[in-house]
Amino acid sequence: MNILVMSASPNREGLTAACAAAAVEGVLQAGGHAEEIRLNDLHIGRCQACDNGWGKCLNDHECQTQDDFQSLHARVRQADAYVIVTPVYWGEPSESAKAFLDRLRRCEAPRENESSLFGKPVIAVAAAGGSGNGTVTCLLSMERWAQHVRARVFDLLPVNRWSREYKLAAIRAAAQAMVGETIR
Ligand SMILES: Cc1cc2nc3c(=O)[nH]c(=O)nc-3n(C[C@H](O)[C@H](O)[C@H](O)COP(=O)(O)O)c2cc1C
Repeated sequence: MNILVMSASPNREGLTAACAAAAVEGVLQAGGHAEEIRLNDLHIGRCQACDNGWGKCLNDHECQTQDDFQSLHARVRQADAYVIVTPVYWGEPSESAKAFLDRLRRCEAPRENESSLFGKPVIAVAAAGGSGNGTVTCLLSMERWAQHVRARVFDLLPVNRWSREYKLAAIRAAAQAMVGETIR
């Protein structure tokens, strides 16, 4: 049981990092294997909208912009389930989350029920460390993404500075439940 825990903040010790660590703990407690990936440590540029809007992604389901996307895409294919933790920037996922998720969607959404993520569970976490505003719009965008790639939304979790402690426990519990369900 291989769970990819992807986080998308430049900050190694902030709220996003704490949420990702809680998810890893939950996975391990349930007997799963957690692979942690910090998207900000990788070189994954934005989609170039090749040709007239679609490039190789439409029919070959590969991205023609060569960077760290390809190796992470391979790990996504291998994984059984996903946790995606993003800081909330302007009520949206962060730039590193958007760059990766946009390109992955372009490769996988056209495959419909053959998508590498088809039916696989996803937990999305929106960590808002400022005003606390914008978690709902951020999660809405992540939910729509999950639907486009035909993943199954296992849970959507908003976190802010005030809810931090009990939400970290909820993230741990959600990851544990997701692994428990996938193993059964
Ligand atoms: C460009 C930018 C936009 C932000 N927009 C929001 C926002 O809409 N709502 C909010 O609560 N916090 C916002 N913040 C604060 C981040 O959500 C906060 O710093 C969060 O804790 C980031 O995660 P980190 O602790 O892992 O760095 C923003 C921060 C940045 C840098």
